[in-house]
Amino acid sequence: MPKLFIETLGCAMNSRDSEHMIAQLREKEGYTTTEDFKEADLILINTCSVRERPVHKLFSELGGFNKKKKKSAKIGVCGCTASHLGDEIIKRAPYVNFVLGARNVSKISEVLHKDKAVEIDINYDESEFAFDDFRTSPYKAFINISIGCDKACTFCIVPKTRGDEISIPADLIINEAQKAVDSGAKEVFLLGQNVNNYGRRFSGDTEKVNFTELLNRLSKIEKLERIRFTSPHPFHMDDEFIEEFARNPKICKSMHMPLQSGSSKVLKDMKRGYTKEWFINRVEKLRAECPTVSISTDIIVAFPGESDADFAETIDVMKQVRFDQIFSFKYSPRPETEAEHFPEVDSEIASQRLSYLQTLNNEILDELHLESMDKTYRVYFEELIRDGYVSGRSDNNIVIKVKGSEELLGTFQEVKVNAIGRTILTGEILA
Ligand code: 5AD
Ligand code: SF4
Repeated sequence: MPKLFIETLGCAMNSRDSEHMIAQLREKEGYTTTEDFKEADLILINTCSVRERPVHKLFSELGGFNKKKKKSAKIGVCGCTASHLGDEIIKRAPYVNFVLGARNVSKISEVLHKDKAVEIDINYDESEFAFDDFRTSPYKAFINISIGCDKACTFCIVPKTRGDEISIPADLIINEAQKAVDSGAKEVFLLGQNVNNYGRRFSGDTEKVNFTELLNRLSKIEKLERIRFTSPHPFHMDDEFIEEFARNPKICKSMHMPLQSGSSKVLKDMKRGYTKEWFINRVEKLRAECPTVSISTDIIVAFPGESDADFAETIDVMKQVRFDQIFSFKYSPRPETEAEHFPEVDSEIASQRLSYLQTLNNEILDELHLESMDKTYRVYFEELIRDGYVSGRSDNNIVIKVKGSEELLGTFQEVKVNAIGRTILTGEILA
C-alpha cells in the first residue's frame, strides 16, 4: 500500500481539510498514513497563509523534504498558501508535483495523477461534496459547516484563499454528526470562518436554516453530549444566539470572541463592524445569561495606525473582560488585503506591545487558574499524554490531566483540581 505523509499547519479548518484528503486518498487510492516522510510515497503540506512567517518557512521545508524523500515520492502543496501563490510555488520549487487550493481539497485524487496540476479556483463550490470518512480522534468529530468567508477585514487574506462563504446543507451536517456519534464520538466541533453567519447563503435549493436552529437540531441527536464551535463573529452575536447558547445544555460553555483590537477607531480601520462598546456589551450579556462561560479571543497588536492610546484601549478591554485564553499576534501585512499598503507601526514598538500584552495575560491567567483550585469539573477525556497522564476538557474548555491510561479515553469523569499550571491543570477523579 502506498504511504502518505501529511503535515498540517494553521487552523482547525485546515485540520479537517487534511482529514478529508486522507479519507479520499485512502478510499480512492489505497493510501495509509505514515509519520516518517522518508518512507512516504506522497508528501503533502497543508499550508496556512494568515501570517507571513509560515509562508517563508514553506520553501525551506519543501527543500528539506525534496532532499531526503524517497526518489519516487511526490510532493503536493495544499491549503491557503497554495491558493494564494498558485503556480509560483512550482516556479520556485520545480520538484513540487501539484498545488491544491484550500477550496479544492475534494480534487485531491484527481491532481495526484496530473503532474504539475494547479487547482486553486476560489469560486469552486465543494459545499455539497460527499467526502469519505476519516477522523483523527474517535472521541471528537470536527465538522465543517461552511466554506469561505464573506467578511472583508482589512488585515485578512482568508477571503482570497477560501473564497466567498457558502453554508453546507444542514441535513449533511446532521448526518455527519449522527455517523460520528454512531461510531462512538460524544462531542462534535463545528467549524467555519464565521459560524454564526451560518445559513445566509446555500448553493443549492436546500432548506434555509440559521445557526441557532442548526445547534438546536444537532442537540436532538441522542448520545451526542457536547457541541463546540469556532469561530463566531462578535458582530453577529445577537441576543437570540446568546440565549440559545446559554439555554442549550449540550452546547459547551466556552465562546471564542475574536476581539482583534479594543480601539473602536482601529476596529473601524479593520472593518470589523463593531465597536469596543458593542464587544463589551456582548460579553456582559453572555456572562449574565451564562455565568460559567469561558471566553477566549484573538488580538492583533500594532495594526497600521494603532497609537499608544489605541493600544491602551485593547489593554482596557483585557482588564475588563479577563479572557480565559488569548491568541495574540503582531500584525503581519498580507498580499491583496486592503491594509497591505497602510503605513506600518515601528517593529520595535510592535514587539514591546505584544510582550506587554502577553505578560498581562499571563498574570490574569494565573489569577483565574487559582480560582479553579479545589473545584470539581466534569471532564471528557480525549488524549494520552506524557508520564502516564490522560487529558481532557471541562465543559468550559479548561484542560485538565489526571494519572491514568487508555480506559479513561472517551469517558466523562468528575475531577477535582489539585494543582495549577499555566496551560493545564492537574486533578484527581472523584470516586
Ligand atoms: N496579521 C496578524 N494576525 C492576523 N490574523 C489574521 N490576519 C492577520 C494578519 N494579517 C489573526 C487574527 C485572526 C487569527 C486567526 O489570526 O487575529 O483571528
Ligand atoms: Fe486557516 Fe486562515 Fe490559515 Fe487558511 S489562512 S489555514 S483559513 S488560519
